[in-house]
Amino acid sequence: MVLSALPNEVAWPIEGKLLEAGLNVISNASPERMNPRIPLINPEVNWEHLGILREVKGNWIVKNPNCTAAIISMPLKPIQDLIETLHIVTLQSVSGAGYLGLSYLAIDGNVIPFIKGEEEKIDAELNKMLGRQYPDKFEPWGKSIYVTTTRVPVKYGHMAVIHAILNKDVDVNYVINRLRSFKSLPQERELPTAPREPIKVINRVDAPQPARDLDPMAVSVGRVAIRDRVLRLVALGDNLVRGAAGITILTVETMKVLNIL
Ligand SMILES: NC(=O)c1ccc[n+]([C@@H]2O[C@H](COP(=O)([O-])OP(=O)(O)OC[C@H]3O[C@@H](n4cnc5c(N)ncnc54)[C@H](OP(=O)(O)O)[C@@H]3O)[C@@H](O)[C@H]2O)c1
Repeated sequence: MVLSALPNEVAWPIEGKLLEAGLNVISNASPERMNPRIPLINPEVNWEHLGILREVKGNWIVKNPNCTAAIISMPLKPIQDLIETLHIVTLQSVSGAGYLGLSYLAIDGNVIPFIKGEEEKIDAELNKMLGRQYPDKFEPWGKSIYVTTTRVPVKYGHMAVIHAILNKDVDVNYVINRLRSFKSLPQERELPTAPREPIKVINRVDAPQPARDLDPMAVSVGRVAIRDRVLRLVALGDNLVRGAAGITILTVETMKVLNIL
């Protein structure tokens, strides 16, 4: 198996050749993430989607989600049945653009309220990961997700301010309990890379902060509040580990316990 972290522009032709050469691929790059025959996997969120690989004859490719979609999908998963519509504003670190992605002069002491292609990816990928995979068809989640992405002068860690319009009245403690108690297959099977607590709800009033609360694989959540059926929460995750390298390893571990490898 090949774990690919190639740049988006060159990834697909090379990954296609690897498949032709008889190898299986898990890829961080964005091309073909929305292909309904290719699973897009964040293990805690949608490990069940890996099931379609059992039907694949020959080699397969699995895609990792966009780093921000990987982080945001985690706190949405345990409350997705309560959500009608989502409004998201991200604050994304410079490392998310890659080593040569952004010049120091462009970002030092600055905020850039645009990341090419990112808003469309987050909307589409959240709808794919939170959707349902059947043996013969795929059903996206089907929610309207309004996203504004910004690049901020922080080295590591992507943050998102999420406002969810809820479909019924619920108490904020009910939501917090669901987030805190969320566990999925990687936790149940105690996979080596799985965080024991995938969603860390932090009580401190000024949490989460990249400098204080960044966890490699868990998503830190703070500022949870509900008013007028609008839930607000702030999520923070490690774009390089949960959003890229770590999620790849956890996907391999998940496939191993599912006997797909
Ligand atoms: N950064 C993140 O937060 C993040 C999160 C999730 C997903 N991703 C995705 O992960 C991938 C890599 O991102 P990155 O941030 O690590 O980018 P990066 O810092 O620009 O690194 C890209 C790497 O790919 C190598 N490379 C470039 N062209 C190649 C080729 N033709 N054959 C073999 N190797 C080649 C480069 O090698 P040289 O240095 O020798 O040129 C470099 O090591 C991208 O698809 C990106 O979208 C990134």
